[in-house]
Amino acid sequence: MNQVRVAVFASGTGSNFQAMLDAENLACDIVLLVSDKPNAPAINKAKAHGIATLVFDPKGFPSKQDYESMLIEKLRVKSIRWIFLAGYMRIVGPTLLKAFEGRIVNIHPSLLPAFPGKDAIGQAIEAGVKKTGVTIHFIDEGIDTGPIIAQEEVSIPPAVSKEGLAQRIHRVEHQLYPKVINQLIQSEG
Ligand code: GAR
Repeated sequence: MNQVRVAVFASGTGSNFQAMLDAENLACDIVLLVSDKPNAPAINKAKAHGIATLVFDPKGFPSKQDYESMLIEKLRVKSIRWIFLAGYMRIVGPTLLKAFEGRIVNIHPSLLPAFPGKDAIGQAIEAGVKKTGVTIHFIDEGIDTGPIIAQEEVSIPPAVSKEGLAQRIHRVEHQLYPKVINQLIQSEG
């Protein structure tokens, strides 16, 4: 296969990563799963699919610049073109941003700019709004900021639990992310 090679960064469950693996016509090869959490379930999902994993401990490096330089080296060795963040709970610094300018994409469980940062789903319930959603965006140095690529609304039923809303949001995420990835890859030709 001569497809575009991409890496997915995940700190947790990796259900979005799994959705990419399960997508029927993904227009790229996921060749690396990067995680900053040694116990992230996403790592086993990668292993089950024979995808290489790179697990690192940010605390083991003197600075963000140092671990991002290490990441860049590994990503270059694998000829990675795009980075897709899928529940990667760490702010990407200028070192990695510059090396992959315009080619790092994030998914966030709200209609940004509403409810950035941690627990976006809990924030939406707490705020008592009737709808929230999913945003896919290019990243910049902020927390869940950067140019928006796609958004989809998710309604919030009365008295929904956080788990119930998370499920509704995940269902949308799992459809939307692979679709947007394909659009991005295809728009590059
Ligand atoms: C997803 O809902 C994603 O939108 C969110 O983390 C979850 C990861 O789930 N990302 C953020 O909150 C980024 N600020 P997953 O590990 O099952 O894919």
